[in-house]
Amino acid sequence: MITVPVELGDRSYDVLVGRGARHRLLEMLPVGVQRAAVVTQAAVDIRVDPGVEHEVFLIDDGEEAKCMETVEELCRRFTRWGLTRRDVVVAVGGGVVTDTAGFAAAVYHRGVPVVHVATTLLAQVDAAIGGKTGVNLPEGKNLVGAFWQPAAVLCDTEVLETLPPREYLSGCGEMAKYHFLGGEHLEDLSLDERVAACVRIKADVVAADETEGATGVRATLNYGHTLAHALETAGHYDLRHGEAVAIGLVFAAELARRLERIDEGRVDHHRKVVASYNLPSHLPEGADADDLIALMARDKKAVSGLTFVLDGPGGVQPVSGVDTDQVRLALEAVR
Ligand code: GLY
Repeated sequence: MITVPVELGDRSYDVLVGRGARHRLLEMLPVGVQRAAVVTQAAVDIRVDPGVEHEVFLIDDGEEAKCMETVEELCRRFTRWGLTRRDVVVAVGGGVVTDTAGFAAAVYHRGVPVVHVATTLLAQVDAAIGGKTGVNLPEGKNLVGAFWQPAAVLCDTEVLETLPPREYLSGCGEMAKYHFLGGEHLEDLSLDERVAACVRIKADVVAADETEGATGVRATLNYGHTLAHALETAGHYDLRHGEAVAIGLVFAAELARRLERIDEGRVDHHRKVVASYNLPSHLPEGADADDLIALMARDKKAVSGLTFVLDGPGGVQPVSGVDTDQVRLALEAVR
């Protein structure tokens, strides 16, 4: 079992990575916890035993469940069950569950502790780590949320064996991102070590910039995500999040090359990493550049013109005021 600390002063916590990590839940609960509200989905067939009195709260399946109505419903059910600040929310599932249950925990009674048991690769290497919680609005993804650090995260790699192949592939899209954020050695590692290495990279970034402040360090975790979110918000493409991120990584490399931040060899490296995970690197059929550019201009990072996280001589960093024509050319390069 590998333990990765997330160093955030008095809100520091451990991420436990390895086969069977879910069985260590009781020892990872905050000291003195009396009861646990286990939030999960019917489709998640991973059972956990918190070892204290608990109740299971099911939320609907799918990204549509990640919404304000689900948070309200959860908080109302917590109230009826009598959840208090001495208790804990345990989120068992992928990013939809950890984001939604994490946000409900952040706002219920102005904050109750939450422990994430991440059951998808995507949640293990990204969604469950670092305290970003939130839900979607009809106008876009993740538009309402809070930073609410978990008390602990369990990444049980054994449960990844039963993930549907496309769900696993989606997690690989987030893994691919870490190759450009200090994870150049990732391909040499076993799955457990690789998940732990991704968690360690994310933990270091979060420790340096917990709330995505002025330094822009945390925004680097959104590498590949500006186009990915636009593709997802457009809504009519059959793409999982990580697949969209993979296309976004190659697009970001093409854009960085056009802005003379990286050379052709580095673009090729992006294409090779993405291909090594069997992830897509081309826009879906019929993708409309104007629509995608309009959606990318609405990205939360876009405070001054079109803003992207781009590779460059100083590494990956946010770049504002990017010329629309260059964006259009980079989109054509991934068509
Ligand atoms: N998924 C990006 C972040 O946690 O900051």
